[in-house]
Amino acid sequence: MTFSPKQRQAMLLLKNGKLRRLNIFEGSVRSGKTYISMIMWAFWLAKSPPDSAYLMCGKTLTTLKRNVLEPLKSLLGNCFQYSEYKKEGLLFGRRVYLEGASNSEAESKIRGMTLMGAYCDELTLFGEDFFVMLLSRLSEQGAKLFATTNPDNPSHWVKRNYLDDKSLDLLSMKFTLDDNDFLPAEYVGSLKKEFHGVFYDRYILGKWVAAEGRVYESFSAANIVTRAELKERLEKNRLMTAAVGVDYGGNGSASAFVLVGIDAGFRNLYVLSEYYDKRNRSAENLINNFELFVTQCKSDFSPLQAAYCDSAEQLLIKSFRQAVGKYGVEVKNALKKPINTRINMLNRLIAAKRFFVLNECVHVIDALQNAVWDERDLHKDVRLDNGTSNIDSLDALEYAFERYENRLFGF
Ligand SMILES: Nc1ncnc2c1ncn2[C@@H]1O[C@H](COP(=O)(O)OP(=O)(O)OP(=O)(O)O)[C@@H](O)[C@H]1O
Ligand SMILES: [Mg+2]
Repeated sequence: MTFSPKQRQAMLLLKNGKLRRLNIFEGSVRSGKTYISMIMWAFWLAKSPPDSAYLMCGKTLTTLKRNVLEPLKSLLGNCFQYSEYKKEGLLFGRRVYLEGASNSEAESKIRGMTLMGAYCDELTLFGEDFFVMLLSRLSEQGAKLFATTNPDNPSHWVKRNYLDDKSLDLLSMKFTLDDNDFLPAEYVGSLKKEFHGVFYDRYILGKWVAAEGRVYESFSAANIVTRAELKERLEKNRLMTAAVGVDYGGNGSASAFVLVGIDAGFRNLYVLSEYYDKRNRSAENLINNFELFVTQCKSDFSPLQAAYCDSAEQLLIKSFRQAVGKYGVEVKNALKKPINTRINMLNRLIAAKRFFVLNECVHVIDALQNAVWDERDLHKDVRLDNGTSNIDSLDALEYAFERYENRLFGF
């Protein structure tokens, strides 16, 4: 095993017995935090009491498996074995429980444990209650916690209640993208170009900063295409996937449908058509307009197979389903991923010049140009939603593409 200089410094702390009760590996994406923290966890555990209990957790068991368990297995071979089904593993002969922190039963499950060690992947995604409970279970003499995290808002509980609390027995190790010399320079260069504004500061520089200014800072005329330009692009690389996102109007908000398309190889995301209506005349009118919109989209862009709707209105979803099922278009609930995940996805595609809006979709264009972070509350990342900007088109757009995150970003 070879390490980056930053990783070697961290290993020395372990070797010299300088670890604390809480050990937090924080910093930018791809900076080598998970890699070194899981190795240090494994080495520390190998020298810890064999009969004690240990826990590893991620936001979900699936992300823990992808980010930590599988890489650890490929590094350690037979020294680490686990069963996702049993939610247990054996690491250097020690029993390790596995949990997803967002699982509603996880908190009650760890309530009864007495732990010698715990490993947490992506700590800012955990609920504070779960973490407080976890710390109370780390009750054995010499017990330790290892956790990785990317920076978030400076008011996040991880920063305010732990990293900034000088009275705690806590060690924080900071990593930046440039600390990881195992990545190809070309990849690092393209990552740096993909992040802008607050996301650049957090995910590339590793800083805990609040979100301010325009949400889609880099969205510009270069992302807007005419019908002729769109045709030319799609002749070179065909549309393979198309989906409609739906947000319903409520008090003072509009109903919006947005059709997106993705070309072969999940390369580029296109906004191809839109519907926007502030009048909200009646449910019947909306259902009729949805059917019209879907049939038009289907005849213009054949791969359309599904519509993803705000799940708050199940009755409308049922009517939509009845209206368009006959055209082979499925109507499903939107995933509604966290707002920052959706914003970050779109910003990465914009910066990588992989996102294009047809110039006829004026409401989506206006919404992207005018969305701003809510500066009355810099303690949380909030996209301003006070009726002055069009959030409805953005929600509909995000519902349409959010579920393709893995394929768009290749993981
Ligand atoms: N010492 C090393 N030797 C070989 N590969 C390494 C080493 N350190 C890191 N890497 C590789 O660099 C990549 C990024 O590392 P890692 O996953 O640890 O980053 P991270 O800081 O946890 O990123 P994120 O915040 O995105 O989770 C991984 O593919 C990892 O395998
Ligand atoms: Mg990681």
